[in-house]
Amino acid sequence: MANSLFRTKSIEQILADSNHPTHRLKKSLSVWDLTALGIGGIIGTGIFVLVGTAVVGDANRPGAGPGIILSFILSGVACALAALCYAEFAAMMPVAGSAYTYSYATLGEFLAWITGWNLILEYGVACVVVAIGWSGYFNNVLKTLGLHLPAWATHPPGVDGGLVNLPAAIIVLCVTAVLVRGMKESARATGLIVIIKLAVIVFFLAVGSSSVDPSNWVPFMPNGFQGVGAAAAIVFFAFIGFDAVSTTAEEANNPQKDLPIGIITSLGLCTVLYVLVSAVLTGMIPYRQIDIHAPVAEALRVAGFRWGAALVATGALAGITSVLFVMMIGQIRVFFAMSRDQLLGPWLSAVHPRFGTPHHATLLTGAGVAGMAAFVQIGEAADMTNIGTLFAFVLVCAAVLVLRKTKPDQHRPFRILFMPWIPLLGMAACLGLMAFLPTVTWIRFGVWSVIGTVVYFLYGKHHSRLAEKISG
Ligand code: ALA
Repeated sequence: MANSLFRTKSIEQILADSNHPTHRLKKSLSVWDLTALGIGGIIGTGIFVLVGTAVVGDANRPGAGPGIILSFILSGVACALAALCYAEFAAMMPVAGSAYTYSYATLGEFLAWITGWNLILEYGVACVVVAIGWSGYFNNVLKTLGLHLPAWATHPPGVDGGLVNLPAAIIVLCVTAVLVRGMKESARATGLIVIIKLAVIVFFLAVGSSSVDPSNWVPFMPNGFQGVGAAAAIVFFAFIGFDAVSTTAEEANNPQKDLPIGIITSLGLCTVLYVLVSAVLTGMIPYRQIDIHAPVAEALRVAGFRWGAALVATGALAGITSVLFVMMIGQIRVFFAMSRDQLLGPWLSAVHPRFGTPHHATLLTGAGVAGMAAFVQIGEAADMTNIGTLFAFVLVCAAVLVLRKTKPDQHRPFRILFMPWIPLLGMAACLGLMAFLPTVTWIRFGVWSVIGTVVYFLYGKHHSRLAEKISG
C-alpha cells in the first residue's frame, strides 16, 4: 500500500501521455499570448477589491494601513520564489497539469492527488470569488449609468433580499462558451482585456499621484507587523494566476523557452504595479477611509475625480473578466490532466474533434462555477483559495528539491540558481503566509483535505493508469 501511494510517473511517460492521439491539445500560444495570459490571470479582484480589506482589516484580523506596500512586497517575494520553481518544472515538463503533474513525477501519486485537489481551491473556488466580484462591479457600473437590476436577481439567497446572482452566473456561462470554441480565441480575448486593464492602472497612478499627501503614510504600520503579515496573506490572492500560465504549457508553441519568460515577466510586472498602486492608494486618503468594496475607484471619487472613478470601475470590470478566463482555463486543464491519468473519470479528458479543446472538462467547470456563483455567499472563499494555493506552492518547491536529488542528470532547459536556497526559502515564505490566515480557514482546509483523501482511496487509487500498468 505504501508503494502505491508513492508510485511516481516518469518524465518520459508524462511527455508521452501529452502526445496521446485522442487526448492531445492544439498548440497555438506564443510568448506574448503566455505573458498576456499571466497578466490576465494576475491583475483582478485582488488589487481592485481585496486590497481594501487588507488595508483596513476585518473581524478576523488587523489591517496593514499604509504598510500594505510592504505586504505586497512580502507576498510578491514568496510568489517569485515559487515562480522560479514553477519555471524549472514547466520548461522540463511542458504538459497540462502544472503543479499536479510535477508532484506526480516526484512526490508520488497520493501527494499528486492532494496537490490537484488543492488546485480545485486555487482555480475553481477562485473562479466563484471572481465571478461574484465581477457581478458587484457590473452593478456598480450600471448604477453609474442610472440603471438598476432588481435585488432578487443580483444577490444570493440571504443577502439583501437576493434569490440568485444572475450576472455572476451569466458571465461564467459566456466565458465557458468562448473556452469551448478554442484556445486561440480565448488568448486573443484575454490579450485585448489585458491592454485595457494595464491602461486603467496607469491612469489611476497618473491621476492619483497628483493627490498624494505623504502625511497619509504616517503611521506606516498602525497594527505593527501582525497587520502587515495578515494583509500579505490576503493580497496573496492578487498574485495567483502566474502559475496558470504553466497549465497551458501543452498549447505553447515553444514551451521550453517561452514558459519561464511568460511566468517571470508577468509576475515581475504585476508586482511593480501593485506596489505603486498601494503606495498611491494609501497616499491619497487616510487609510481608514479606504472603501472595502471598490477601493481603487472610490479613492478617486473621494479625491474629486468622479469621471475617473467611473472609468476605473469599467476597466476593473474588464480586468476581472480576464481573470475569470485564465482561472477557468487553469481549472479545466487540471481536471483534464487528472482525468488523463484516470484519477478522475476518463470522460473529462475527451477533446472536441473540431475545436481541439477539452470540452467536457470545460462544460463541467462552467456549470459548477456558474451554479455556485449564483447561489453561494463567498465571504471567506478568498482565504480558502489562498490556503490551498500556498500549500500547492509548498509542494512544488519541495518537488524541485526532490527531483534534483532523484534525477540530477535530467535535461533542465531552465535551471534555478542558488540551490537549495530558492526552493527552501520559497517553502518557508509560503508556510509563513499560511500561518497568518485565520484559524477557521485552517479548519476548513483540514476538512477539505480529509474529503480529498477519502475520494482518492475510494476511486483514484484503484482506477489510476499507473495502478493499471503496475497490475497489468
Ligand atoms: N490574482 C487574481 C485576482 O486578483 C486571482 O483576481
